[in-house]
Amino acid sequence: MLGIFGKAPLTSDLGLFLELGILVVLLIVLRFHKIKTKQALSRHHRAMVVVTILGFIVTLSIMVPSFLIFFSAKVDLLSFFALLIIFHALTGAFALAFGIRLAINVRLKRQRRWMRTTMFLWLFAITLGLILFLQIYGYLL
Ligand code: HEM
Repeated sequence: MLGIFGKAPLTSDLGLFLELGILVVLLIVLRFHKIKTKQALSRHHRAMVVVTILGFIVTLSIMVPSFLIFFSAKVDLLSFFALLIIFHALTGAFALAFGIRLAINVRLKRQRRWMRTTMFLWLFAITLGLILFLQIYGYLL
């Protein structure tokens, strides 16, 4: 079933909107949660746990199946497109793994550095995801 813009399947459009929605929530949380008290830290932690779980569900239900279908066909692993997917999958998997680690262990040493790295990986993964989406469904060229 075709999605909202008539080019990609509905699940892919949904994946895009959900991931962009998660990004907006992430940015709002980071912008407005000044973590100065224990209460603020716990609120920030709860929000990040929700964002990570949502990201995990979207990845598992929409992207992993698409990834498996793509690589179950005979593809040139060194083509630009395959490398783009592999790089996106790797950065995305690390972003999620780091997010889960932060969600589970609130008292990580050098927590700020972990958080910044996770955010950087997340932004990188979402940018590559957006390029993938535009490339796969013919929005580019
Ligand atoms: C933080 C983690 C991740 C983010 C933010 C992210 C973001 C995105 C976005 C925005 C898209 C375009 C929308 C779509 O087509 O559904 C996308 C597509 C895709 N992603 Fe991810 N992604 C992440 C993790 C992963 C992982 C771990 C994998 C591989 C196991 C993966 C594989 C794919 C594939 C194959 C597509 C194309 C889906 C399609 O056929 O439409 N992504 N990603």
